Amino acid sequence: MNVITLTTLTTLTTLTTLTTLTTLTTLKIMFRIDNKVAIVTGAGSGIGKSIARLFAARGAFVHVLDIQDGAAEETVDEIRVTGGQAQAHVCDVSDQPGVIELISAIQQEHPIHILVNNAGIGFVGNLENTPEAEFDRLFRVNVKGVYNCLYAAIPHLKANGGGVILNIASVVASVGIPDRFAYSMTKGAVLTMTYSVALDYIQHNIRCNSISPARVHTPFVDAYLAKNYPGRETEMFEKLAKTQPIGRMGTPDEVAALALFLCSDEAAFITGCDYPIDGGFIKLVP
Ligand SMILES: NC(=O)c1ccc[n+]([C@@H]2O[C@H](COP(=O)([O-])OP(=O)(O)OC[C@H]3O[C@@H](n4cnc5c(N)ncnc54)[C@H](O)[C@@H]3O)[C@@H](O)[C@H]2O)c1
Repeated sequence: MNVITLTTLTTLTTLTTLTTLTTLTTLKIMFRIDNKVAIVTGAGSGIGKSIARLFAARGAFVHVLDIQDGAAEETVDEIRVTGGQAQAHVCDVSDQPGVIELISAIQQEHPIHILVNNAGIGFVGNLENTPEAEFDRLFRVNVKGVYNCLYAAIPHLKANGGGVILNIASVVASVGIPDRFAYSMTKGAVLTMTYSVALDYIQHNIRCNSISPARVHTPFVDAYLAKNYPGRETEMFEKLAKTQPIGRMGTPDEVAALALFLCSDEAAFITGCDYPIDGGFIKLVP
C-alpha cells in the first residue's frame, strides 16, 4: 500500500469516527428537558405520576400537583430517591383562586416552561343516566380545571418568552363510545381548548398540543371496574383490554414517553395537534 492510499484510508477512518461520534452526541442530548420547570396536574397517580417521574429523570424540576393529600408527596419522594428534583403541592384544579395563587408562587420561585394538564375524573352513563350534579362535577374538574391552569399559566409563559402546554384529552374526544356522555363532553372541550390556545398564543412562542389515550391501565381504570363491575373485575379488565385492536391497554409510561417528546425541543415544529395513543382504537377496525 503506497503512502497516498494509507493517508486517504486514515482520513476516511477519522472522518467516519468523527461522524459516528457526532451522531452519538446528537442522540445523547435528544429528549432532554434539563433546567426546565414543569407543572404536572393530577401527578399523584397514574399517567400524571409517570409523566412527572420521566420529566424529572430527563432533567426538569417538576411541580407535582394533586388534590389528594399525600399523593403528590409520594410521587415527589419517588423522584427524589432517584436523584430528581420535584416539589409537591396539594391543589384542586377546579379552584381558580387557589390555582392562580399556586402557579404565581411557582413562577416567582423560578420561571415556568411546561404545563401538563393531566388531572381528570370520569363518570359512566348515557345522557339520561347523567344527573346534573355529575355533569357539573366533571365539567368543574376536566374542563374548568384545564381552563384555570391555562388562565393562570399563560401570562407567565408569555412573560418568560414562551413555553409548552400539553393537555391530556382522550379518544372519546374524537369518537363515540357507549355510556361516556359527560366524560366525552369534557374531553371534547379539552381538545378544542388545545386548538384555540395553540393558535392564539403561537406568536408568543407557546406550543400547545394534546394526547388522546385509549384505555391505559391506571388506578382510574381499576376504580371504574371496582365501582361498576364488583366481583367481575378480571373478566371486564380482559374485555376492556381487547377493545384496543393491539389486544391490551396502554401503560402510563408509554403515555409519558409521548408527553416527553411533545414537551421537548425535538417537537419544536409541533403545535395545535392531538396525538392518539390508542393501540389502533381510532383508525383500525379489526
Ligand atoms: N386511564 C385511562 O384509560 C385514560 C384514558 C384516556 C384519558 N385519560 C385521562 O388521563 C388523565 C389521567 O388519568 P389516570 O388514568 O392517570 O387517572 P388517575 O385517577 O390514576 O389519576 C388522576 C389524578 O388526578 C387527581 N385529581 C382528580 N381530581 C383532581 C383535581 N380536582 N385537582 C387536582 N388533581 C385531581 C387524582 O387525585 C389522581 O391522582 C385524566 O385526565 C384522564 O381523563 C385516562
